Amino acid sequence: MSAVAVRAGAFVHHLQLQSPRPEKLAAFYGDAMDMSVEKLTDGRWHCFGPQRHLLIAPGQAKTLDFSAFACRDAGGLAELRARAQSEGLDPADAPSPLLDNAFGVRDPDGNGVMFGLAREGLDERRGMRGPLQHITLATFDVGAIENFYAGKLGFLVSDRVVNEKGGVATCFMRSNHEHHTLACFLSSRKGLDHHSYEAGEWDTIRDFADRFAAREIRLMWGPGRHGPGNNLFIFIEDPDGNWIEVSAELEVIRDRPVKHWPHGERTLNLWGNAILRS
Ligand SMILES: [Fe+2]
Repeated sequence: MSAVAVRAGAFVHHLQLQSPRPEKLAAFYGDAMDMSVEKLTDGRWHCFGPQRHLLIAPGQAKTLDFSAFACRDAGGLAELRARAQSEGLDPADAPSPLLDNAFGVRDPDGNGVMFGLAREGLDERRGMRGPLQHITLATFDVGAIENFYAGKLGFLVSDRVVNEKGGVATCFMRSNHEHHTLACFLSSRKGLDHHSYEAGEWDTIRDFADRFAAREIRLMWGPGRHGPGNNLFIFIEDPDGNWIEVSAELEVIRDRPVKHWPHGERTLNLWGNAILRS
C-alpha cells in the first residue's frame, strides 16, 4: 500500500469531454451548472465556476478524453510522477491551459488521466457552490482499473461492492480525505459513467434541483442516498447523454478498513430504486 496519490492530496480539478456540438454542450453547462464559458484558442471550450472546471473538445459524444487531478504541492506531484515512472506507466508531459507541470498517463481502458498543479487565478468566484468532486468510470474489468489507480498510482480503496459470486461490481477509491475521488462500475461499456459536483449540504441540492426545474431539466435519478460514501444525490443528463451527479454529505475518511457491500439496489440507494450497471 503506497498511498502516493493520497500523500499528494490529489483532488479532481477538471475533466475533458468530447462532443459533436461543443459550443452547445458548453452553453448547457454554463446555464445548468452556473458556470462561465469561454472558447480557447485551440477550439476547446472551458466551463468554470467556483472550484469546478470542464473542458469540451470537438469529437464523439459521451467520450472522456481525460480526468485531471491537482496535487497539493510540487513535492507530491514529483513523487507521483516518479511512482508512475517506476511502475512503467510512461508519464509524459501534458501541456494544459488549467494545470502547471502536468503529466499524463493512460489507464488500461485507454482513459487519459493527468496530474499537475492547479494554475492560480482561474477559479470563478461567482456561482452556486459545487466543487467538482469525483469521476466514475464504466469498465469491463474493475480489477484492472483498481490495480492501475490503487496498485500503481497509490489511490486507496475505500469500499467495494461485491456480487454473489464474489466478483467486484464497483470499487471506490480516494486520493485525499474524501470517500472517493474516483470510482468504477462493472458495465457492458467502458468510458465515463458520470462526474459529480459536491454541493456540501442538502439545501444546495434543493437549489440545484430548483435551478434545473426552471430550465425544464428533469432529474433522471434521485433524490437518494448512496450506501458507500453515504452521500445524498440527484442525477441529470446533459444534451450528449453524459450523467451529471450533484451530491452532498460525502463521507470524510480519517482512517478505517475497506468495507464490502452486497451488490443490490439498497447499496446504491438506501432510499429507493437504483440504476444498476451490472
Ligand atoms: Fe457518484
